[in-house]
Amino acid sequence: MAAQKPPRLFLSPPHMGGQEEPRVAEAFASNFIAPLGPQVDAFEAAFAAFTGIPHCLAVSSGTAATHLALRCLGVGPGDLVLAASLTFIASVSPAVQLGAEAVFVDASPGTWNMDPERLREALTVLTGEGRRIKAVIPTDLYGQCAEYQRILEVCAPFGVPVVADCAESVGARCGRNLGQDDESCHAGAWPGLAASIFSFNGNKIITTSGGGMLASEDGALIAHARKLSQQAREHAPHYEHVELGYNYRLSNILAAVGLGQMEVLEARVAKRRLIFRWYREALEALPGITFMPEAATGKANRWLTVMLVDKDIFGADPGELRQALEAENIEARPVWKPMHRQPVFAGCRAFGGAVAEDLFTRGLCLPSGTAMTREDVARVADIIRAQGRALGKRA
Ligand SMILES: Cc1ncc(COP(=O)(O)O)c(C=O)c1O
Repeated sequence: MAAQKPPRLFLSPPHMGGQEEPRVAEAFASNFIAPLGPQVDAFEAAFAAFTGIPHCLAVSSGTAATHLALRCLGVGPGDLVLAASLTFIASVSPAVQLGAEAVFVDASPGTWNMDPERLREALTVLTGEGRRIKAVIPTDLYGQCAEYQRILEVCAPFGVPVVADCAESVGARCGRNLGQDDESCHAGAWPGLAASIFSFNGNKIITTSGGGMLASEDGALIAHARKLSQQAREHAPHYEHVELGYNYRLSNILAAVGLGQMEVLEARVAKRRLIFRWYREALEALPGITFMPEAATGKANRWLTVMLVDKDIFGADPGELRQALEAENIEARPVWKPMHRQPVFAGCRAFGGAVAEDLFTRGLCLPSGTAMTREDVARVADIIRAQGRALGKRA
């Protein structure tokens, strides 16, 4: 008889808190099944209250939120949009779909996020060439906020708006003196951002199965996005349209799930940070293993625990570790492949790129779901440790 496989450990599966089903039942009982309804309004209000961003629009995905933000900023053919190279493709694809050209900016080693000095170089060079730069999109990679203060300072003289991709950083904080004279704010709430986008995809820290939020301090921008998200219907008893829109609203049922998830968000952040600590305690002493640094300018939600593996010292590379984990029914994943290395962006320009490439080569994302126990983390850590030994490179 074949040996039974150990239970699968997924990278970041959904984790319901218990209040989602009653919220969905309320939506059913009132027959607000779709598209909009009181649960959507309440979800937007709860998210605005939690993040401190006054205007929130619940939509069908983080990608839809980015698309709407860029449409509202007037991004179109001939424009440039600057994005972090080390990100997921959805940070960038809406800009290209709107006809703009993407330009990529490297990461800084201390944060893994968009390097403000590389950004300055890009803005200076491209403006000098007479190019029209319509937006900059930094990503809060793996739940760590980008350096918004510096990025906004760099962008200000060029008059370029910043859209924060906070898809991965729901629940994270950015700012100074966390916990003491707290000058921090929620991810995406940094004053001066044109807009921020969030994702509630199934793998995120909280989920609506699929969904997103566009948030801004600019009420007019969100009002326009709201209209565009509902096929850009004008105020009239019939269907009147003066511009083209999309069908991007979040369904009332999914908003009900989101309301339940909001109740556990802070607990989920605390658990992700604990999981990170467990991994660090178990593995950090191993030669050749290091972890994603936490920038001094914020408190990451540690959506995924990510480590770097130096093959020459540790004895195995991230690919070998990933395969060893998969053989034990554990899902791990490489760090995002940089956008400037993606075949689909072959013709695009990049400012720097070596840092992002190095992180891609050496990085591995470990299972980080909030239902994990310390024993689950130990199971992963033991396999990783054994790989170092297996190749006989270390004690
Ligand atoms: C950095 C980043 N941006 C954008 C997205 C897109 O979000 P969604 O999947 O909700 O469209 C994701 C996640 O999926 C992401 O990780």
